[in-house]
Amino acid sequence: MTTPRPVIVGTGIAGLWTAWRLASEGQPAVVVTKETLADSASAWAQGGIAVALGPGDSPSQHAADTLAASDGLADPEAVRILTSEGPSRVYELLALGARFDRGLDGRLRLGLEAAHTQPRIIHAGGDRTGAALIGCLAQVIRCHPLIELLEHTEVVRLVEDGERVTGVIVLPGSGADYFLRASAIVLATGGVGQLYAVTTNPRVATADGWALAHRAVAELRDLEFLQFHPTALKLPGVNPAPLISEAVRGAGALLVDRAGRRFALDADARGELAPRDVVARAVAIADAAGGAWLDARAIADFPAVFPGTTAILTRHGLDPVHDLIPVAPALHYAMGGVLTDLQGRATRAGLWAAGEVASTGVHGANRLASNSLLEGLVFADRAGRALATELREQAPSGLPADQPVAALRRDAGADAACEPTLMEMRELMTANVGLQRSEGSLLHAEQELARFTGATPADAWRTHNQLLVARLITTAARRRRESRGGHRRSDYPPAALERESA
Ligand code: SIN
Repeated sequence: MTTPRPVIVGTGIAGLWTAWRLASEGQPAVVVTKETLADSASAWAQGGIAVALGPGDSPSQHAADTLAASDGLADPEAVRILTSEGPSRVYELLALGARFDRGLDGRLRLGLEAAHTQPRIIHAGGDRTGAALIGCLAQVIRCHPLIELLEHTEVVRLVEDGERVTGVIVLPGSGADYFLRASAIVLATGGVGQLYAVTTNPRVATADGWALAHRAVAELRDLEFLQFHPTALKLPGVNPAPLISEAVRGAGALLVDRAGRRFALDADARGELAPRDVVARAVAIADAAGGAWLDARAIADFPAVFPGTTAILTRHGLDPVHDLIPVAPALHYAMGGVLTDLQGRATRAGLWAAGEVASTGVHGANRLASNSLLEGLVFADRAGRALATELREQAPSGLPADQPVAALRRDAGADAACEPTLMEMRELMTANVGLQRSEGSLLHAEQELARFTGATPADAWRTHNQLLVARLITTAARRRRESRGGHRRSDYPPAALERESA
């Protein structure tokens, strides 16, 4: 019988950093990912890391901006931790070999983004920050003797023994499912974008972590707070939709409608750099009325500043130096998630969560731009340290006995046959639980989701997981009878809405 190790599910920045931190504390770990290390929202991240390193900036100013964006719902202590521990994590990344962009004076280049009062966004490789960071961490993880990596391996469910989560049933790409006993499970599975018709999230972002945690009776929080990015590339059949980073608007790109009119100022005096939900709704209105485009033609040296975006646009036959870029909102980020304490412990013994899947309290109802990679780093670090301490203190004899777990009998094709249901679900969620919600739309979504669930064969466990989370989001949105942050109820208009349209 092998000694149980922590099992980390997911290989975005939070999963990889947890594994690295555990290993650096002398604790072995198993890291499981559905596809490969290249397939995560972190690896795709174009935005950078917000961190208070500049002259005139401070963690407390960064905290104030984060709290303001959260629309009153963030936990000030979680935000203090996020912003004050961020600089140390960035220095550690530098020590691991991460190469952040620097100015001619050799100092880290600090960018400004919407709702930040100071330039504090660091990037790597221009708009390829995520790929650069994950590339750096992947090298460390792949050759670390204490870390075992299982790619192309899905987690089917968590296994419980009494009060405690004691392992996972995993399904490798080829072969039968098996029980992996674990001294702890760390969920780092990312977001929920694939529940919506258009998303910037990769194909793997199917809300698995929320479904696993809910089925294991761990508490979830704030599921209704979803962030739609205002400027995803809109081209027929292109989904996931590549992000056109907010940094492009930060560099001066303007939003125009089909008549060439700059429309963002109609919604908010801050125009293109108003909070994301405000800009996203303005873009949605323009899109519905004939289209919305980003005009980035005045940005000097666009291809050098945004090499990743330029490569994506070129692949789709667009040249940002001469062409307008068609855009529309897309589901981008989940602010809520698996409720954790400030060390990453979920409400079920043995279960932890870090990164987008978790609700640490740093985002409240809306996330400040470029705080997500930071959250992944800071709270994965805390989870790794706290878990390492627990494991050192845990007497081996105190661990639950190994137990046989019956393999699941499944029809391998059951989920594939449910793709039409999932397509309907995505359209339903976008139309009824999207940028604008109301009692009527949410009730309709709940009824339809219940119908889809009833018609889905029991074997289609992936489909059931997605339908479950869609229902949890919808119910949370129905319960919140107000407009706040990323959650806009047309039947409960916010005071801010009146201000915006005044
Ligand atoms: C962006 O660059 O617009 C996205 C970054 C983020 O989501 O924070």
